[in-house]
Amino acid sequence: MRRNIVAGNWKMNKTFEEADDLLFNIADPLKEMDLDLTQVILCPPVLYAEMFTDIALENNFSVGAQNCSNHAEGAYTGEISAAMLKSMDIEYCLVGHSERRKYFNEDSKMLAEKVDQLLENAISPIFCCGEALEEREANTHFEVVGKQLYDGLFHLTAEELDNVIIAYEPVWAIGTGKTASPEQAQEMHAFIRSLIAKKYGQDIADDTTILYGGSCNAKNAKELFALKDVDGGLIGGASLKAEDFLAIIKSF
Ligand code: 13P
Repeated sequence: MRRNIVAGNWKMNKTFEEADDLLFNIADPLKEMDLDLTQVILCPPVLYAEMFTDIALENNFSVGAQNCSNHAEGAYTGEISAAMLKSMDIEYCLVGHSERRKYFNEDSKMLAEKVDQLLENAISPIFCCGEALEEREANTHFEVVGKQLYDGLFHLTAEELDNVIIAYEPVWAIGTGKTASPEQAQEMHAFIRSLIAKKYGQDIADDTTILYGGSCNAKNAKELFALKDVDGGLIGGASLKAEDFLAIIKSF
């Protein structure tokens, strides 16, 4: 179902005490906010999940993980399965973030398996896609993002896709302070929606939530969120400052 979403990806930041502090500074004001039309998802380091899920409902947010295994269970030292996430009341999970694709060599086959694991366990994947700078400069950005979607996501049935959120994150915009221009963001989001329409039909495309990520902050969120095909943001750096993150949530 299409809706306005602001998701915070904390990445590998904050010790337990720091996370507790930041969570309090976000959750306390969130509780008082009228969020009828906006959903907030926090994706902290999964080690701290329980601290978040314990207070999520009463404080108007949901909890997401940043990663899960592509396997169901077994001898995979260090991994965390989708079933484990579900058993900790986690409702969302990032898949295919460019940092996982780049630093952990996650390929499309593995990402498709992760998506399947999550859906089998009733967790909504937040599927990330986006081109590198060289790819945009070579004018292959549509091709690259299209392939990421076809290879990682488009094996799903329409019913399954309904539980997926897509996040367009141009790699050159992540953590760089260089945001995609409103034209670049709208153009790519419309393209993504058109691919979904081609594969699954217009109704499903119109019903899919597509977030923008990459140096989204309290200053540029309003303009980005106002774009026709942008349904909210996946926020990295600015989600680590309570005041900035709350301001982004108020940008719809
Ligand atoms: P920044 O907002 O820090 O650019 O990170 C975006 C991101 O990677 C969110 O997943």
